Amino acid sequence: MPQVVFLPYDLRLEVPRGTSLLAAADEAAEMVDDDFFVGELCEGRHECGNCCVQIVEGADALSPVTESERKLLTELGRGPDTRTACTARVCGDVTVRIPNPVKHAERGRAQMQAHP
Ligand code: FES
Repeated sequence: MPQVVFLPYDLRLEVPRGTSLLAAADEAAEMVDDDFFVGELCEGRHECGNCCVQIVEGADALSPVTESERKLLTELGRGPDTRTACTARVCGDVTVRIPNPVKHAERGRAQMQAHP
């Protein structure tokens, strides 16, 4: 099975091919008791951008960028090393960086800052 490495934790997780980065990140977040994505997620409709991750290695081991994902990333001004975790599917080994993980205890405060 492909391996996903989550930075900054250096968490290594094997997932079935075709797993979304979001599902893998949810599983990894449980291992460290942190929230990787703060704020409401749009469940893959490319409306929120809250699931963006930086691809450090293995961009070619992810499913191709979709048209609506590309449109959202462009609107957000994100570089080519960014993917939406809800859309990117794991096809091989990949290393991603979670931008702003927070402890569960800090989640409420972080959400208030994200959505005043
Ligand atoms: S969950 Fe909203 S863009 Fe991924």
